[in-house]
Amino acid sequence: MKVTFGLPELDKMLKEMLHLNSLIVIAGHPGAGKTSLASKICYENAKLGNRCLYITFQEDKRKLFKIMKNLGIDLESIEKEGLFKFLKLPITFLEVDKLLEEINDQIANFRPKIIIIDSMNTFLKAAKEEEKRAYLQNYFYTLSSIIDGMVVLIAELPFGQERINLGDIEFVADAVLIMKHKIERGLLVRTLELRKARGSPIIEAEIPFSIVQGYGIRLHVSPIIEELPKHEETIAPSCNLLEKTIGSMPIDYTIYISYPPDMRPGEVAPIIIALAVANKKRALVISYRYSSMAFKDLVINILEQFGYDGESYYNHISKYIDFIGINPFAFSLSELYQKEIDLVTSGNYDIVVFHGIELVERTLEPRYLHKLVNQLLYLKSKGKLVIRLGSEIREEIYRMNAAISDIVLKFEIPENAQYKDCRLMIWARGNPRYYASCGEIIECVRESIEKITVSRGEARG
Ligand SMILES: Nc1ncnc2c1ncn2[C@@H]1O[C@H](COP(=O)(O)OP(=O)(O)O)[C@@H](O)[C@H]1O
Ligand SMILES: [Mg+2]
Repeated sequence: MKVTFGLPELDKMLKEMLHLNSLIVIAGHPGAGKTSLASKICYENAKLGNRCLYITFQEDKRKLFKIMKNLGIDLESIEKEGLFKFLKLPITFLEVDKLLEEINDQIANFRPKIIIIDSMNTFLKAAKEEEKRAYLQNYFYTLSSIIDGMVVLIAELPFGQERINLGDIEFVADAVLIMKHKIERGLLVRTLELRKARGSPIIEAEIPFSIVQGYGIRLHVSPIIEELPKHEETIAPSCNLLEKTIGSMPIDYTIYISYPPDMRPGEVAPIIIALAVANKKRALVISYRYSSMAFKDLVINILEQFGYDGESYYNHISKYIDFIGINPFAFSLSELYQKEIDLVTSGNYDIVVFHGIELVERTLEPRYLHKLVNQLLYLKSKGKLVIRLGSEIREEIYRMNAAISDIVLKFEIPENAQYKDCRLMIWARGNPRYYASCGEIIECVRESIEKITVSRGEARG
């Protein structure tokens, strides 16, 4: 590899270009993140030993160094090592011949592998006549061969303007990256559009990203799973009813539990908890509805209903189960999924429970299903058992969730019936459907709670 695009995901997507001399255009409105991405490219290349020359008319060196440092990009350190040069041209250089002479001098002396021009708009101002403009464009086009490396041209799009206005440059560029930001439901949503990439197939053309303090640009590339590994491990169900209807299930299964919007079957909590505790697996419960206090109260309540000392058993349960409440509306969907995957990975959980999924079902959001399925496939590939619970707010949503699950448990209350007349439809891949009565469900809860309490006895013994 000759150069890097500064972010591993981009390197993967543009891998054919890493070995060639290339001309890259980064375009976007003010504040889109162009300078941040360009600085990251500089920084990561310098760390590989590629000298980077940053040419600008407008950026202030001290300010840039300070802002980038907050994003984990330490330009000062690479400058000290002689791998970075910040060149601020005085405005009097706004004349093509002078400009090119200066750049050529710098190339001869500093011998950069990477050149960043921030921004190209100012440079083009230097060329008033058409002829000079063409000359300048041609110069930048050949520049990557001259330095045998990568040239990054930043193009400022004024607010309200969507077209890059660099003349022929965008046609001869090897890759065009457009950085966008917009407000969606009051949240800042950033996307990086890969509009053109010579020699590389564009798989994911619009990548959501965020700019994070201390970290910098973070792309939320959906993990694309090409082939799922086979997991031999199985997990035992929590009660006889599930043993009879489902049996032992593969550890990478996805279970969907659906209930009517006017029903909250808290009974499923012990069934899920027993799954983790009795199998000695660690579970993370992510709730879009409850706080950890509300979850604790719910569990203690149910245990007490069945005659157990809820408080003391709760301590035992917390050795296996972690709970986190997340407000799904505080994040864009891509950020939310990324955060969840980070949580699951960092805690090394075996089981992930998503509670209140009806709040995340944004069928109006573009590519919702695509993002969800990618997240589930990722968890599957890592051998995580996923349990998703939600109110059936629309038949269509129930169908979609059922279609992407291996096991479906659907609570139903027939019209005009009492709560106690509820029933549970149980379906598992490869098995016929089974309708359990409420009595059978209560029995399953009782057995589950027994498994939880017995396991504490074992742990003590
Ligand atoms: N420390 C930081 N934490 C989070 N976001 C930051 C931080 N520093 C800058 N940003 C964000 O980065 C963006 C500026 O990026 P910049 O690369 O200067 O954009 P451009 O060059 O496209 O105008 C701003 O929108 C700002 O919100
Ligand atoms: Mg900028």
